Amino acid sequence: MIHRTKVTVVGAGNVGATCADVLATREVCNEVVLLDIKDGFAEGKALDIWETSPVNSYDTRTVGSTNDYSKTAGSDVVVITSGLPRKPGMSRDDLIATNAGIVKSVTEQILPHSPEAIIVIVSNPLDVMTYQAWKTAGLPDHRVVGMAGVLDTARYRAFLAEALDVSPKDIQAVLMGGHGDTMVPLPRYTTVGGIPVTEMIDSEALDAIVQRTKKGGGEIVQLLGTSAWYAPGAAAAQMVEAIVKDQKRIFPCCARLTGQYGLSDLYLGVPVKLGSKGVEEIIELQLNGDEMALLHESAKAVKEVAEVLDAMAV
Ligand code: LAC
Repeated sequence: MIHRTKVTVVGAGNVGATCADVLATREVCNEVVLLDIKDGFAEGKALDIWETSPVNSYDTRTVGSTNDYSKTAGSDVVVITSGLPRKPGMSRDDLIATNAGIVKSVTEQILPHSPEAIIVIVSNPLDVMTYQAWKTAGLPDHRVVGMAGVLDTARYRAFLAEALDVSPKDIQAVLMGGHGDTMVPLPRYTTVGGIPVTEMIDSEALDAIVQRTKKGGGEIVQLLGTSAWYAPGAAAAQMVEAIVKDQKRIFPCCARLTGQYGLSDLYLGVPVKLGSKGVEEIIELQLNGDEMALLHESAKAVKEVAEVLDAMAV
């Protein structure tokens, strides 16, 4: 029998709904299930998305569900976006207590219906919520992955495209570390149409872009009073596409480290190969001393939040 691909997006808020919309519009899979706890909310969003199909000319079926996990059965990929977003003045870490319980409960309810699914975490604080889902699920490391690096590099690439007045399509970049102010954009691994970015922009302007990228999420929170959704939703959808279509894309993702970069027992942003098995490989770059020091500093910050989570025993 021909396999119909199915993706569940848990949380029909701005990020989840945007992710579902991108998945449908780009025909990443045959069916998208959008699930939320708020009565009728996911059904409404899913129906509105489905009603775009004749206009946008696609046939991915989008359906909604109010907390009925049986509707998610047999999903190939499950994206978890549930939880509170940031308000101005909050750090992503301030969300930990509320979101840890939510991510745990969603993970527990998803798995019995989709025992083979790859799980993509989007909830914040991202690195630690990915760890929380992994702890709860008891799945092999490669089946639980977090979305942050695709978003953070998208911001970095967009800022560079603007500064250089070139197409964002031609900017390739790697960024590592946690999804927070300690993230590590890597100018040495950034190219513009294959040309090292350092040959295209002076170091002061590049550094300003690196600093802006690190605070890119906060910039949107300041402007909107809540966190971003177009770029996070699209970034999550791009990861889902790599998995569902077994594209073996090289993306920065939050993956579990078991000795790579001298770090272990930690979920952190690193370049990975993303395919039908989820994280199929963690790529170890030859970082220089400064880059490695920044990565370890970021790892320390993430580990501290993970320890807070462990101490809460949620
Ligand atoms: C951001 C939030 C979603 O970076 O973490 O926009």
